[in-house]
Amino acid sequence: MADGAFRTLAVIGAGNMGSGIAQKMASEGFDVILVDLDEEKVARGLRGIGKTLEDGVERKLFTPETVTGILSRIRGTTRFEDLADADLVVEAVFEEIGIKRDVFARLERACRRDAILATNTSSFAVTDIAAGTASPDRVIGLHYFYHPAKNRLVEVVAGAKSSADAVRRAWTLQERLGKTPIRSKDSCGFIVNRFFGPWLAEAVRILDEGIADIPTIEAAARQAFGIGMGPFELMNVTGIPIAVHTDDTLGAAFGPLHGTPDRLRAQFESGQPWDLGGDPDPSRFDAVADRLAGVTFYIASALVDEGVGTIEDTDIGARVGLRWRRGPFELMNHYGLARAAALVDEVARRWRIPVPGVLSSQAASATPFAFTLVRREDADGVATLTIDRPDALNALNEAVLAQLRSAFRAAAADPAVSGIVIAGSGKAFVAGADIRFFVKNIEAKNILKIAEFTRAGQELLLEFQRCRKPVVARVHGLALGGGVEMALACHYIVATPRATFAFPETGIGIYPGLGGTQRTTARVGRGLAKWLVLTGETVTAEQAAAIGLVDRVVPYEDLDAAVRACIAQGPVTSRTPHAVPDAYRATAARYESTGIETLRASEKRLGYKAPIALRLASELIDGGEGRPIEQGIAMELTHLNEIFSTADAYEGLSSLGKRRPVFKGQ
Ligand code: COA
Repeated sequence: MADGAFRTLAVIGAGNMGSGIAQKMASEGFDVILVDLDEEKVARGLRGIGKTLEDGVERKLFTPETVTGILSRIRGTTRFEDLADADLVVEAVFEEIGIKRDVFARLERACRRDAILATNTSSFAVTDIAAGTASPDRVIGLHYFYHPAKNRLVEVVAGAKSSADAVRRAWTLQERLGKTPIRSKDSCGFIVNRFFGPWLAEAVRILDEGIADIPTIEAAARQAFGIGMGPFELMNVTGIPIAVHTDDTLGAAFGPLHGTPDRLRAQFESGQPWDLGGDPDPSRFDAVADRLAGVTFYIASALVDEGVGTIEDTDIGARVGLRWRRGPFELMNHYGLARAAALVDEVARRWRIPVPGVLSSQAASATPFAFTLVRREDADGVATLTIDRPDALNALNEAVLAQLRSAFRAAAADPAVSGIVIAGSGKAFVAGADIRFFVKNIEAKNILKIAEFTRAGQELLLEFQRCRKPVVARVHGLALGGGVEMALACHYIVATPRATFAFPETGIGIYPGLGGTQRTTARVGRGLAKWLVLTGETVTAEQAAAIGLVDRVVPYEDLDAAVRACIAQGPVTSRTPHAVPDAYRATAARYESTGIETLRASEKRLGYKAPIALRLASELIDGGEGRPIEQGIAMELTHLNEIFSTADAYEGLSSLGKRRPVFKGQ
């Protein structure tokens, strides 16, 4: 098997978790073997997958043909011998160490020596499970969250003997599966359950101590954490026994703050769900929120102190896995660190436990937690700068730009660096500029801030372009708007077949402002640049290569080698547009020679775009052809105030992800 290449994946255990994991793997194009002990369990798992996918067809998420394709890739079996081809296996059987160890012993016999063996355990240490095997180097943890075909979070866990290579390969596989991986130490509850279990327990204590009733706790928690369901409703939906199991396990490892309150155990024993009825009492909201926040802040700080996870991964875990509006550390910043620290002190006093260091030292410094959004990794003289905001598909905001600028400048000035790679973490490359930043500033009537952001972005991309060292965009997934513009400013764009490219701007009321109306022409010519920018057409990596938008398309496993080959060629200082391929000639000619009003009247798809944005984008592309890039991007800036002041820009940006915008040409 070539390094990083995964073709056949397998899941042991066809229960809810196992079949959901198998479904996701097959949806992403992998062949999957789903194993369970008896035929009936396998059949039930496959029926469950079929049903979930059928629901998806009804909700128009998939076509019936897609579902047939997905199902055809999953093979159910009871025979471990069928796993001979598997490249990676995820064990998702009953949470009992003896059963798991038995499964791993059988896997070791059935699988190739280079196959990765992963456990989806939530209550045991990976190291303990691996200890029963003869090859613990290839045993790792992959902890998925319910429903694993929908919830993007996965905790990737190295056991004491796991090889770094197995962990790295499994990590890249999660990105290819569209997951958002975070790294957790092999510690009980890993990152997310470690604070989520006690968060549930604290809600029960708040009830038990008479601080508030259930409807009040529910409403207060929903409001404070920005979630759809409060702790009691969540326990009813996901199962009170699971909450008890989690807290029992954590309590045994970390003591009573993490343990199961008597009232929770009594509810479990009664077999009844929590009664959610009644009216909330808003006068108790703050008291409830403070108690829940205090425990969350305490445990999040403790786990960071212990090196279980980083502040970034802890927050991503909460946002992606639990759908909290803010992660614990962002929430501490929001509360103000002095107040957050006071709540944590209170928890420490109540439970007679030490105050964790990370929050108290941060509070003492009087600056909020700062999150690392750009990572630099160096190997063989190549610095890879990875935008690391996977839960927002690496969307560009002010903090990302600022960190990218300093990382880029440092790499460009570093004599040990001969080439620079720009990459994205998670499933996407970069999904454009941060829409929320735009919406917030339009609402605050602060378009100047958007202009400053755009200018800073333009300047940074100019630094990419002018860099005397080769700069390569490594595009392994979605590139939208500002993401495409960032790639276009690099000397080379190398993509995998899964990468896609589009300029969605005119469909959300704006135009590309980071050089997209200029550098696209330099690569594909004016006709196709107009076609891409005005229609917002999504092009696949293959199409992008055919028209010259990207330089190379290679399978994922060859991506790093292709990036290095580009670096070896040195920087690109000038560029002539790629010849328009025959298949695109008519389109290119039409867009190049037809006025925007005629195009709007004749092309139905342009009817859904914002008219002012179309006109300005078209003018910018026409006006930029043949001009130096500095002049072209200056023109983009000139119209920025105008475009962001339109009602259509606000309509387009604020309706994204909610409804189709209705543009009025104003
Ligand atoms: N700005 C801010 N947040 C963004 C973003 C952007 N440009 N693109 C994606 N995100 C966020 C989403 O809001 C979502 O956040 P949530 O989990 O808090 O809801 C998260 O990233 C994951 O995105 P999601 O929509 O769930 O992923 P998807 O794969 O189903 O859809 C897109 C991906 C790209 C189609 C969709 O997110 C989108 O249309 N994004 C905006 C792209 C855009 O217009 N960019 C150009 C800006 S100039």
